Amino acid sequence: MTTVAPDAPSAPPAAPGPAVAARLVEVHKRFPLGQVEVAALQGVSLDIRAGEFLVILGPSGSGKTTLLNLLGGLDAPTDGQVEVDGQDLGGLTDRELTRYRRERVGFVFQFFNLIPTLTAAENIEFALELVERDTKRVAARTAELLDQVGLAERADHFPSRLSGGEQQRVAIARALAKNPPLLLCDEPTGNLDFRTGIRVLTLLREVTASQGRSCVLVTHNSVIGDMADRVVRLRDGVIEEEIVHERPRDPAEIRW
Ligand SMILES: Nc1ncnc2c1ncn2[C@@H]1O[C@H](COP(=O)(O)OP(=O)(O)O)[C@@H](O)[C@H]1O
Ligand SMILES: [Mg+2]
Repeated sequence: MTTVAPDAPSAPPAAPGPAVAARLVEVHKRFPLGQVEVAALQGVSLDIRAGEFLVILGPSGSGKTTLLNLLGGLDAPTDGQVEVDGQDLGGLTDRELTRYRRERVGFVFQFFNLIPTLTAAENIEFALELVERDTKRVAARTAELLDQVGLAERADHFPSRLSGGEQQRVAIARALAKNPPLLLCDEPTGNLDFRTGIRVLTLLREVTASQGRSCVLVTHNSVIGDMADRVVRLRDGVIEEEIVHERPRDPAEIRW
């Protein structure tokens, strides 16, 4: 039973469905290619809900990376809007956009993209130092992140001494360093054997469920869609289909 103090303010009206973390509105992206243009995205509208694990499936060339880059503020649409937390990224100054990229999004890539001359811990510290100067806090947060991804013992290893799966876990820790509300993953298991891939997907699911973070994972591997709250199929820069999973599968049950 809940009790309400007599002078409590009345409850706000119920929100219509879960909060929207990010939104694409009629987004087009065209790239010049010699005398012609490539239409990478052709009118994509999509809401990304707070706390959801969204998988975008599509064959090579369907516009997946382009879509992630727009959400991450690495590129701007030719037409249409990209909104995050209700704010149009196109309306931000360069400085605000830089801040957005640094603090609000975490990227995970197919080839991990760790700096080879820095250890696992230093790769994470490097990302943290962009937003945190206190070296004690940087070290403590780095240790916490390495522990979270199960690599506390590998802190001093260079990427070349880590397996592919371990490198990807360092990359995930780095992406989470600033505790971003939006995690963007571009074929994160594309370079891993399936067992290692499943472990990485399990970790991504865990770190998304905590703290209401949203994750957008793009891949050509359709079975990965089974673990998503929602799957969107992209073809030739157009959303073809959208499937909501009331009960997403545990990544551990997926095979490919
Ligand atoms: N910087 C670019 N310059 C020219 N064409 C590009 C560029 N980036 C992507 N494209 C083209 O846009 C289309 C979609 O690419 P992309 O988003 O990378 O697809 P996916 O990630 O699904 O493989 C492809 O035809 C690709 O060649
Ligand atoms: Mg791609």
